[in-house]
Parts: sequence; C-alpha cells; structure tokens
Amino acid sequence: MKRNPDRVVIFDTTLRDGEQCPGASMGVREKLEVARQLARLGVDIIEAGFPVASAGDFEAVKTVASEVKGPRIAALARCVPADIEACAAALAPAGKRARIHVFLATSEIHRKYKLRKARSEIIRQAVAGVEYARRFCEDVQFSPEDASRTEPEFLAEVIRAVLDAGATTINIPDTVGYAIPSEFGSLIAYLFEHVEGLDRITVHVHCHNDLGLAVANSLAAVQNGARGIECTINGIGERAGNCALEEVVMALKTRQDLFRVQTGINTREIYRTSRLVSQLTGMMVQRNKAIVGANAFAHEAGIHQDGILKERSTYEIMKPEDVGIPGSELVLGKHSGRHAFRHHLAKLGFDLAEKELEEIYQAFIALADKKKHIYDDDIVALVQEHLQEIPPVYVLEYIHVISGNTAIPTATVRLRKENEILQDSACGDGPVDAALKAVDRMSGISGRLVDYSLQAITSGKDALGEVSVQVEFGDRVVSGKGSSTDIIEASIKAYINCLNRYLFLEGQGRKSPRRRAASGTGKTKRTSSRKRGTQVRRKKRNG
Ligand code: KIV
Ligand code: ZN
Repeated sequence: MKRNPDRVVIFDTTLRDGEQCPGASMGVREKLEVARQLARLGVDIIEAGFPVASAGDFEAVKTVASEVKGPRIAALARCVPADIEACAAALAPAGKRARIHVFLATSEIHRKYKLRKARSEIIRQAVAGVEYARRFCEDVQFSPEDASRTEPEFLAEVIRAVLDAGATTINIPDTVGYAIPSEFGSLIAYLFEHVEGLDRITVHVHCHNDLGLAVANSLAAVQNGARGIECTINGIGERAGNCALEEVVMALKTRQDLFRVQTGINTREIYRTSRLVSQLTGMMVQRNKAIVGANAFAHEAGIHQDGILKERSTYEIMKPEDVGIPGSELVLGKHSGRHAFRHHLAKLGFDLAEKELEEIYQAFIALADKKKHIYDDDIVALVQEHLQEIPPVYVLEYIHVISGNTAIPTATVRLRKENEILQDSACGDGPVDAALKAVDRMSGISGRLVDYSLQAITSGKDALGEVSVQVEFGDRVVSGKGSSTDIIEASIKAYINCLNRYLFLEGQGRKSPRRRAASGTGKTKRTSSRKRGTQVRRKKRNG
C-alpha cells in the first residue's frame, strides 16, 4: 500500500491474533458481529483469520470477506502453497479488498531451532511465498516473524528480496514482546535507511505485550516512519496480548501535538467495540484498563473531584464521550413495546432477524420484571448473550439454593437437554460450588474453575451482574459469561455457557480435518504456562 505520511493505517487482528488468547475463541457468527463492529469503528484492515488452520477459520474469513463492506480483509498464510491457496479461496468474496498476509520467521533463534534453515533458504522461501501470493492477489503483506530479534542487516536483506518479489506492505513484528521503545524505533529508522524504496510503501508494526510495551513500541515506530499499526481490541492476544487498539489510537489522538498523524477511527465507537469483544470472547476488561476500564474516567480523590467540577481538563486528558462511554441513561421499561425495542436496538447498531428480535424481546420483558431501570448496557448484554452461536446443549431451567452461615450450602439444579429434563442436588463449599457440582453430576463432565470474576453491568442495587469464568475440561480451557440480577444464577449460566462451548469445540475439532492436518507443523498446538505449570493446549498456533 502506498504510504501517506499524515495517516496511520489501523490493521485490526482481533479475529486472528486476538483470538489466540487462551480461552478466547469465537464462532463464525460471533466473528461476523465483531467484524461488522470493526467496520463501524473505522479500522482500515480486518485480519479475519488463518484459513488453513481449521474449517471454522476458513469459514469465518470467507463469511467476513463476503458480508463486511468497507475495510480491506486480510488473512494469514505461512510461505507455503497450501496456506496461500486457502487464503485466496477464503478471501475471494472480498475481491479487490483482499490482502494475503504471508509470514516467515527470520531471527537466528527461529532459523536454528524452529525452522532449521540457513539464511539463504529463508530468503528463497520468503520470495517464493510472496511471488505465489501475488499470483492470486495484488495486495500482499510480508511479515518477518521475530523481526525485532533478527540481525538488522539480514532483516534488511529479506525485506529487499520480498519487495523485489512483489510485496506491497511490510510488517515488522515484535513477536515475543522483547523490544523496548528506543530500540524498536531505531530498528524502524535503520530499515528506512537501508532498504531502498521502503519509504514508498506503508510499513506496519505488530507488537506483543510481554513486557507491557506493545503500545509504547508501536508509538516509537510511528515516530520513526511506520504508518501502519497492527493491534487488537482490549489488547487481547497470545500470552500477554497485542498492542491495544483503543490505547494506541487515543494516544495518537490525544497527543496530536507530538505525532501529527490521523487515523480513520471513529473513537466514539471504541467503548461499544470493547464491550462486544469482551462479551463474545469471555475476556473481561480489568477495571483499571486504560481507555475502556470501568475506572478509566472515575475520579475518587476529593481533590480530583473538586478539580474536575471546576474545570474538567485539570484531571481529564480525554472525555468519556470521546470514546463512546455512555451516560447512565434510562432507556426502556417493561411497558416498552416491540416497536420501541426494535427501534432502540437499531440505534445501538444491531440488525436482527425477526425471530431473534422476538426472543430477545421476551428476555428483555423477563428482565424488566426483575429490574426497575434498564440501561443500554443491559440491552447490549442481552443481545450479546443471545448472539453466541454455541448450541445450547444444556439450558438452565431452575435453581434452588440453601445457604447461610450455619447451613451446609446445597443446590438443586434443573437442566434441559434437548427434550430431556435433568435434576440433581449437591452440597459444596458455597452455593455456587454446590450448583456447579450438581451440573457436573448431570452432564457427567467434570470442569475445574480456573478463573471467576463478577462485574456489575450497570449501577443500582438491582444491577445486572455479569460473571466471567474460565473452566478447564480435560486439556481444554474455555471462557464463558452469564448475566442475571441474581449472581448465583449468573455464575451457573456462565459455567453452563462454558460447558456448551466445550462440547461445541470438541465437536468442531472432530469435524475439522484441517486442524488435524496442520498438526506437526507447530500450528495446532501451543504451550501456555498456567497455574499448574506448562501444559499443551489444543489450539492453533500462528503468530
Ligand atoms: O506475532 C507475530 O509475529 C505474528 C505474525 C504472524 C505477524 O502474529
Ligand atoms: Zn502476533
């Protein structure tokens, strides 16, 4: 892509690198919803997946390429023909907006231990990959994986070779989040100095957050001439994640005086996008997260509150409304009819089929019976809970708990499994533990809760509570969410959501020959160190 010195291209990889976050996988329908919202947000490029990795990834890229208008749609491939062909086929519906993104590791450590290839072989394979991708697509991006740990003169040599072979965008990844800003900025400057013609195309950077420096490194790269930033919503991604889109975009905007560049992002869509991604991936946003965390604009100290009341800019460098944080606006009540409800959903950006609308309306009426005030966030939670495409194998029908400081916590749970009604009771360390045990007894599948958090979605004593959990079933960890005005019910819903997701992923794994075919290439397994040490997770590994 031709370089525009005043404009930073935002390349969003939430659906590809972000989805590699442990437990964050999404289905096709969920990815499509995220992609539609990314288009509303104004990203320039959506990296929709890694088509060769699984049948599900292929389908997701193809669906996004055919349904989402506006941004370019990219997909990832190794420098091997089968990957590139899968990309080309999945991206075909995007026509001229398609981009094939090929990558190959270049650092000594990867050459020696992972690829077992000499420098000359790396150059040969990178060139062959780019040339082959150009046969299918005019827009080909090349990434030298682990660029920041590659010898700079060799990196420059690789880039010269792939530019000659027809690469139209070069991306410089800090794959393991090892670089620090001054060093990464200097690397970008070095490449501009030593690669003839690099200043005529857009150089991207792709930074991981292992040392918490992904945003800082991306900004340093911009100061040294990079004009494309690869990032994810809420910074989700492999290990400690990727550069957070909302942070890097707001840094560029807030410090325009320094950077003097624009992005095409409609910052007022940031908060909604963050909520959607959090809801659909089950990855909660920490309260003190910059830009989108619940505390990002909360002022606690008296001196600060006093300053804010006198003049906002004393303690606020951005306005909450600039990132689309909604006021606590009362929107609908139990007397609101279908028409008002549909109208309101459209205003929130949801375009739903008649049947879905009716189902969500019924859920809304049920909620309005329990909760006096219904806010935008309550409605978004209802819709997003409904949008999850995980087949509801188990559905919660009923829960009854006995608890208290002198009682043995006991729960009776009734589940529906297709046409069958199951009911069981169990005792536990608390009412939630008892209820989860009862669910395990009925499903015959034992899960281990590895993470649990509870957040109030809106304010007030009757606020909807949102529970996010991560549950380990065998060697698979899955995330899930549930919401209710009752936190025990929300907890069980979240757990059942994980159980259904687990059953869905197991089913997908069996149906997915691509995922199997890709194993042994380092792509279908990944290692992740969790509490109990290092374990192998059954998930694709790609960057
Ligand atoms: O982190 C990485 O190096 C990647 C590449 C595939 C761009 O994700
Ligand atoms: Zn990456």
